Amino acid sequence: MFIENDIKNNGFITKKLPEGIDLKSEILKMKAEKNAVILAHYYVSDDIQAIADYVGDSLALAQISKKLSAEIIVFCGVHFMAETAKILNPNAKVLLPDLNAGCSLADSAPEASFKEFKSQHPDAVVVSYINCSSEIKALSDYICTSSNAIDVVNAIPKEKQIIFAPDKNLGMYVQQVTGRDLILWDGACMVHVNISIEKLQMIIDSNPEAELIAHPECLPAVLSKAQFIGSTKALLAYVQTSPTNTFIVATEAGILYQMKLQAPDKKFIPAPALESNSCACSECPYMKMNTLEKLYNTLYYELPEIYVNEKTQEGALKALNNMLAIQ
Ligand code: 13P
Ligand code: SF4
Repeated sequence: MFIENDIKNNGFITKKLPEGIDLKSEILKMKAEKNAVILAHYYVSDDIQAIADYVGDSLALAQISKKLSAEIIVFCGVHFMAETAKILNPNAKVLLPDLNAGCSLADSAPEASFKEFKSQHPDAVVVSYINCSSEIKALSDYICTSSNAIDVVNAIPKEKQIIFAPDKNLGMYVQQVTGRDLILWDGACMVHVNISIEKLQMIIDSNPEAELIAHPECLPAVLSKAQFIGSTKALLAYVQTSPTNTFIVATEAGILYQMKLQAPDKKFIPAPALESNSCACSECPYMKMNTLEKLYNTLYYELPEIYVNEKTQEGALKALNNMLAIQ
């Protein structure tokens, strides 16, 4: 009961860990004993990425979640990702180390306002970016991620109107690439829109040999300067195949850990945030709520657990499967 109240009050288990504990080896031991799998998004801290069973972008993690036969999935990412794993694999116990790990995009689309928006365009097909709540997924016809948004939109018959939510910047980019006229919801990722264009230009000017690569959640002013635009997975693949040796990376800085692992001889410069911070980079405060301490407690107590109600689960699964059938 103490632990449940702790989670209710704080969103995660605050209990102090045993003195002198070797966190990494204890987590790995518990994981094996409990038949648990740890999934991590590219934006979580390096120490978690280093011990996760699978590290990936939103699409890869959704695809993996669906296939897993583990009893427990610990999702080191944000709430909508853990919910997606639960929807795709309802028999697994899905755990999220900190329930506060939300997302500004998911928050930008509350269910009631979205229903109202949808009712203004009754004939439109609804495509929602996976960065939304399970309720918004259930109101959608298709889900997409930054990896497959263009393919999903292209799969919809040309004569159909399309609502694209909740990321306006990704929507504008998809609109530009596909030539489709999308009805856009006005949401944004607080991390990607917080990249300082001025500081970024200074970095570009002082590194003329570098290529700027950017995630499509960035503002058009950043995307228009980029030599390559893609999801985190696409950016990671690009730095390995491009002959360029220096990259300015306009996305959350967690991806640099994998870039350095996959291309150790290349140089990566993170895109700077508007405010000066210790890393001179852009970090998602929600993704960074995942820590090894919280991961340990989550595995130990098998809490906090993610639940999705049956009706929402059914509608959201349909929209997710419509995406997975395309890619
Ligand atoms: P991808 O995982 O699709 O690259 O999206 C990045 C993101 O912002 C996840 O929250
Ligand atoms: Fe949401 Fe942006 Fe954080 Fe991704 S990086 S979880 S889109 S706030």
